[in-house]
Amino acid sequence: MTPLELLKTRHSVRAFTEQPVAPSIIRTLKAEVTMINTHEAGIKFRIITDDPEPLKGFSHSYGVFKNPRNYLVGVVDTALPDIYERAGYFAEQFVMKAVECGLGTCFVGGTYNSSKVSVPLRAGEKILFLVLFGYPADKARPMARLMAGMVHLKKMKPRQFFIPEDEVDRACEEFPMLSTALEAVACAPSAVNRRPTRLYIGEVDGERTICAKVEKPDHSSLIDLGIAKYNVNYATGEELLPPYSM
Ligand SMILES: Cc1cc2nc3c(=O)[nH]c(=O)nc-3n(C[C@H](O)[C@H](O)[C@H](O)COP(=O)(O)O)c2cc1C
Repeated sequence: MTPLELLKTRHSVRAFTEQPVAPSIIRTLKAEVTMINTHEAGIKFRIITDDPEPLKGFSHSYGVFKNPRNYLVGVVDTALPDIYERAGYFAEQFVMKAVECGLGTCFVGGTYNSSKVSVPLRAGEKILFLVLFGYPADKARPMARLMAGMVHLKKMKPRQFFIPEDEVDRACEEFPMLSTALEAVACAPSAVNRRPTRLYIGEVDGERTICAKVEKPDHSSLIDLGIAKYNVNYATGEELLPPYSM
């Protein structure tokens, strides 16, 4: 499978089996998180296993989860630059590592009880999201299927992620990796499936290059921007420049 094909296999999994995640996979995921935390200022992700508490009582809200017991806690120090975008970027790196290990994942933005997340927070630190992970249950329950169907109503073609859209063919001739980059953006997870990220041709250090942006740079969109940028990097092997923007 190519990286783009693997990206396309990812979808939000909301029903998990009760099977504990294999210790070797937990070790791989923890090693990934340790590497991210070590290299990225202000990112303090944590992995919690076998703890269903934070999701209890949210069974009828956005996201109908079954057996959510394992999750990455997206802790950040909000004082650091580009922290929302970087949190999205590196959480998606974690997601794809989990996908490579055969796991299902789902970002959870708000529908959890943060006081039940057993991670101590220092002054200035905040939990931005959880990323659930585990073995996908074979058949999603009817409600979960319905939710998944609803959020996918807004189907978009990859070219619609380029602005201006009517210049996408010309831009793809100039930048052959652009079509792969657009496909990678199109299959990125985003909060409430808003998919706010757009690619365009901009100038960095006097050179024309593929850039990414969101229309309204609120915290949620910036997290989505980081996620989409990671997908581009994963699919093309190229980092969009500048790597982070505000
Ligand atoms: C930051 C963020 C927060 C999210 N929060 C939730 C959530 O609270 N509940 C939920 O069911 N899905 C949540 N999602 C998953 C999105 O609904 C999902 O990514 C989107 O609908 C696209 O579907 P896909 O991931 O299957 O491609 C979230 C996604 C992101 C990126």
